[in-house]
Amino acid sequence: MRHVLRSQQFDEELLLLLFERAADLQTNFDDPRRHRMMGQLLAGSMLFNVFYEPSTRTRMSFAAAAQHLGMQVVTTENAREFSSSAKGETLEDSIRVMCEYRPDVIVLRHHEDGAAERAAVVSGVPVINAGDGGGQHPTQALLDLYTIKHELERISNLHLLIGGDLARGRTARSLAYLISKFPGNRITFVSPRELSVGEDIKQHLSEHEVPYSETEELRDALPEADVVYWTRTQLERHKGQILDPFVLGVDELALMKQDTVLLHPLPRIGEITVEVDSDPRAAYFRQAGNGMFVRMALIEWVLELLAPGPTSDDSQERT
Ligand code: CP
Repeated sequence: MRHVLRSQQFDEELLLLLFERAADLQTNFDDPRRHRMMGQLLAGSMLFNVFYEPSTRTRMSFAAAAQHLGMQVVTTENAREFSSSAKGETLEDSIRVMCEYRPDVIVLRHHEDGAAERAAVVSGVPVINAGDGGGQHPTQALLDLYTIKHELERISNLHLLIGGDLARGRTARSLAYLISKFPGNRITFVSPRELSVGEDIKQHLSEHEVPYSETEELRDALPEADVVYWTRTQLERHKGQILDPFVLGVDELALMKQDTVLLHPLPRIGEITVEVDSDPRAAYFRQAGNGMFVRMALIEWVLELLAPGPTSDDSQERT
């Protein structure tokens, strides 16, 4: 089964295949004939969207992606409160029961690290990790990398500035894993010392010979970056003192190169000011939009409709 559990599972060939397919779907989306054909690709299939934590982008873009491919969608939002989890049912039992209702794929967001892996052990259908606690958010990393490719036309030989709450931010963790698969990339991590990136990520980067450095000085790091990946403080995962976030505003924007791309997984809670939004380098809303197309391609791959090796001509025929 093609579960999607962590960024490390993707190799370069598969990433490029997914990105090619996502770009094909995006390019042809507004063509009425191709859109009709897309809507028949997975007709009769069903996606279960199982969310134990809040979400706007991931939940809605997976639902929209599935429906644009002709799938039906069954959803549980706030499953921590409104599912039988509230009565003490284990995740494993819930997943086993859901599989009795014959989904083709389960998309799972959960508040505990490793939850998607636990679900995959007992699931009879592929599980897609839509974020597990402070662990990973691999589909976000896919759309982040796709956006970098889309905006800069390359995903190698880049200097990334990854900043914010790096101790608990799963999107930053997943992107660091993914970017290490391409040559010539280096990372500057920017965060308060208390929110610095974990040793597991640093060890992975060292093992894959990806140069990285850490600093608390955002303004020093900004002029060098090709990509600025900014993240919020994970208030829901903090116990005790909440640190003031670093705020990126127009003064910081002025320090960036003209062709730097500014990304954020969203939601933001003040760490990028709204004045920044109108700058062409601010790509975070385009980034969110890209997510649906990447997730369409990913659903196709998980359900074995997308196999390594098609040419773009083949894929155009399909839709
Ligand atoms: N980026 C992201 O995962 O957003 P949501 O929490 O709204 O899904």
